Amino acid sequence: MKTFVITGATGAIGKATAMELAKPGNKLILLGRNKQKLDQVIKEIKSATANPNIEGVIADFSDISSVKKAAGQIKNKITQLNGLINIAACYKAKKEFTKDLFEFMFGVNHMAVFVLTKELLSLINATPGAKVLTVSAPSSTPLNFSDLNGDTKFSAFTAFGASKMANLLFTFALSKRMHGVGTSAIAFHPGLTKSSLTREMPFFVRGLLNLISHKPEKPAHSIAQLVSGIHFNDMNGKFYDCKFKELPKPGNSSDEAIQEKLWKVSEEIANRFEKPVAVH
Ligand SMILES: NC(=O)c1ccc[n+]([C@@H]2O[C@H](COP(=O)([O-])OP(=O)(O)OC[C@H]3O[C@@H](n4cnc5c(N)ncnc54)[C@H](OP(=O)(O)O)[C@@H]3O)[C@@H](O)[C@H]2O)c1
Repeated sequence: MKTFVITGATGAIGKATAMELAKPGNKLILLGRNKQKLDQVIKEIKSATANPNIEGVIADFSDISSVKKAAGQIKNKITQLNGLINIAACYKAKKEFTKDLFEFMFGVNHMAVFVLTKELLSLINATPGAKVLTVSAPSSTPLNFSDLNGDTKFSAFTAFGASKMANLLFTFALSKRMHGVGTSAIAFHPGLTKSSLTREMPFFVRGLLNLISHKPEKPAHSIAQLVSGIHFNDMNGKFYDCKFKELPKPGNSSDEAIQEKLWKVSEEIANRFEKPVAVH
């Protein structure tokens, strides 16, 4: 049996990915922040696929203690993890702060992904061929390390672009730490996809994006194939699109010094949350 953890499972790409991977023989642990919504998704997938091995774990990515608690619950359930699929993300039009006082997109789209992945690495490293796939975008927005939280200057598009750049830098830094049992860190660009991600964007932008976007089943199918290892042997540290084309690393995402700088800063921030978290 292969086990996959999928974040953002109540969203467009997350739910479609869960549906793709819910074939018999796979076990899925789906993460969501809203219990009612998550239960409904699980019910739908179970009835569509007749796979009983699908469960939910609640995690609010705007709260690091909730992410850590979810990781603890996952580690209590499984000893191996074939794929961690990081999909959850948000776009915020206005400057807002998470419970931990991070600018929302930095906190949810990067810090929560960093913490969850690090917490689950022991499971990944214990599983030959395991994959960590993080859904990003070809963002070339540089990170402003002297103002990661947008304290002095905030632009929603810049903060979102920076958070997607952080996903790339994080994935490429992680790929260098993957060794031994054929594990891989992969970045993935879903292409423009119909979803709720744009809900806080201006009406005309939403309308235009909706017109030119494809259905979430398209990236979901590619994600499922990539994490199942069907297409390639050596995917570690690569950035793929829906057609399995390897994309060039945009902006300064291939700069190893910047990758390591983000890793170090993220680790320092995460260490502030080192207090034990109760797991029920
Ligand atoms: N759609 C596109 O055109 C496009 C293009 C490039 C990249 N992407 C990337 O694709 C990924 C999936 O996005 P999508 O298009 O499927 O958007 P979506 O439908 O809005 O899904 C986003 C998911 O993230 C979850 N989420 C948001 N904030 C959260 C929080 N604080 N805690 C826990 N979960 C939270 C949402 O939960 P709720 O259901 O509770 O809101 C939802 O499940 C994202 O990483 C996005 O950056 C999308």
